[in-house]
Amino acid sequence: MFANRRNFFFRVSIVINIAVLLYTAMQLSGNTAPGVYWVPMTVDGSERSAEYKYVNQDIRNETETRLSDSSASARNFEESTSQKTPSTMATTNKTASSTATIPEVERKVNGAVPDAEASNASSLDIDDEDNLSPTTQAYLRTLLGCNDRDMLPRTEQRGEFWVLKNFVRADHGTILCHESITYTTHAGYEFLDNVQPLVERWMAPVSLAIHAPGADLTPTVNSIRYLRDCLSNELVKQFVTFHIFFSHKHIPSKIPDPDVLIQTPYNCSGKPPYENINSTYMKDKNLLYPVNVARNIARDAAVTHFILPSDIELYPSPNLIPRFLNMIARNAKPLSTSTNPRVFPISIFEVDAKVQVPSTKTELRAMLANKTAIPFHKFVCPNCHNIPQGQQWMNAAETNQMDVFHVGKRRGKFVHWEPIFIGTHQDPYYDERLSWEGKKDKMTQGYVLCVKDYDFMILNNAFLIHKPGIKHFVKNAKRDAIAGRQSAFVKNVIMPELKKLFGTRNGCAL
Ligand SMILES: *[C@@H]1O[C@H](CO)[C@@H](O)[C@H](O)[C@H]1NC(C)=O
Ligand SMILES: *[C@@H]1O[C@H](CO)[C@@H](O)[C@H](O)[C@H]1NC(C)=O
Ligand SMILES: *[C@@H]1O[C@H](CO)[C@@H](O)[C@H](O)[C@H]1NC(C)=O
Ligand SMILES: *[C@@H]1O[C@H](CO)[C@@H](O)[C@H](O)[C@H]1NC(C)=O
Ligand SMILES: *[C@@H]1O[C@H](CO)[C@@H](O)[C@H](O)[C@H]1NC(C)=O
Ligand SMILES: *[C@@H]1O[C@H](CO)[C@@H](O)[C@H](O)[C@H]1NC(C)=O
Repeated sequence: MFANRRNFFFRVSIVINIAVLLYTAMQLSGNTAPGVYWVPMTVDGSERSAEYKYVNQDIRNETETRLSDSSASARNFEESTSQKTPSTMATTNKTASSTATIPEVERKVNGAVPDAEASNASSLDIDDEDNLSPTTQAYLRTLLGCNDRDMLPRTEQRGEFWVLKNFVRADHGTILCHESITYTTHAGYEFLDNVQPLVERWMAPVSLAIHAPGADLTPTVNSIRYLRDCLSNELVKQFVTFHIFFSHKHIPSKIPDPDVLIQTPYNCSGKPPYENINSTYMKDKNLLYPVNVARNIARDAAVTHFILPSDIELYPSPNLIPRFLNMIARNAKPLSTSTNPRVFPISIFEVDAKVQVPSTKTELRAMLANKTAIPFHKFVCPNCHNIPQGQQWMNAAETNQMDVFHVGKRRGKFVHWEPIFIGTHQDPYYDERLSWEGKKDKMTQGYVLCVKDYDFMILNNAFLIHKPGIKHFVKNAKRDAIAGRQSAFVKNVIMPELKKLFGTRNGCAL
């Protein structure tokens, strides 16, 4: 009964919202320029509201953004729907692959909501950990209470950087916030050989920020086109959304129109534009890699509630997403009992250059036993990756579902731990003043997580494998000098700020 009523109100609210949309479309219909289109901004899955905004691709006009009349009646919808819908839809062509048409959003949201009230964690009957059933999805949506996010292209500023957000978008269509996890990552174009192996294992949205100052933009754009057009499968096209950024001091001489680009087939007969790169504009100009700007850009653009901010050379274990989300939906201990904020660290390993990347924990453990796999950075910086119960994790056999293996804290022996974890948009950002060359670029975030008493819920069967090839320590005097300066900056400038902003807690340090 209740679910039906709820459903009814929800449908009514959708109808009203569509009416508002169409009404406003009529008001502005003489005014539809290329690059201007309608899109749903948020549909939060409850009966509260569905807002629609009028958006220009490049410059948003705040006056136009506010909808003038939200009291348009449902009757307008009846009258105008037949002749208005096609023309309104036509203007959405530009975003057709990446943002929802209205019927699509309605179908998806309606499909997800009705069962939610009726279900609870104990009535979930998960028989396939590698799939998310509709009941589980509906339950997740109420459990997470997340907001859906758009994928519109935007030209934004971030400190000294220009950001071409959603420059080339994945073709995956609408993804609601509870449905998947976004792998958020960053690179210069010379690292884009990692994209294919990464997406083949992840099989879900990837939000990738590329630093492309000056003359690096052309090979970057060619690399994106190569990845989309020239590989043996279409997974990059389907899942990867590319963002580009560069300092205002290093603006490329010409910035191509991405819509024209992706419609022009790339000549695939040459070698990949990202292969065997010896010199880049960035290196020639001695620029530092703004790693945390990149991380924050990639994360901000992610449309899902859960995100995995990671390094592009770390390939996740297969089926991680459905298993993780089924675990979240089961909401068993310690998930249901802890009230602290939390993140979900994933164990990291390196493998020999010549071996297959393991697909299961069972395979990984066999490789650890014969030393073809080792814990991450064992030979580079063994203590950096001192992980709570790391040895116990490796000793524990694979189980048939994902669970929290151990709840750790970033304190005591683990005070310098720099985990890679699944988190959410609520977690602290990375400090954009820090460079990759300066090292310890994630420590300030780690400090804030510690002060906020985050639980680090280490996952049992999930793992990340670094691109094959075991790393050894190489001394780099130039980088050490930069690292020394950054370290002093963190200590003398950032740390006092963090103490003022977030306070202190026993055992937390940088
Ligand atoms: C914004 O849009 C309104 C209404 O269409 C128009 O009157 C105004 O001049 C626009 N402002 C800018 C800065 O384009
Ligand atoms: C929009 O897409 C439809 C269907 O794919 C196509 O028939 C139509 O010509 C497109 N319109 C524009 C303006 O590109
Ligand atoms: C969950 O749902 C089942 C059946 O739908 C019901 O028997 C059970 O009491 C519910 N559990 C809780 C904790 O609400
Ligand atoms: C593609 O590039 C190759 C060599 O770079 C060239 O020989 C070939 O003609 C090009 N194909 C087209 C269709 O332009
Ligand atoms: C980079 O250097 C290698 C070996 O020195 C050379 O074979 C390769 O062609 C160079 N690549 C580029 C893009 O110049
Ligand atoms: C190590 O173990 C893996 C997984 O069982 C196996 O594929 C590989 O051949 C082994 N390598 C060596 C050198 O024993």
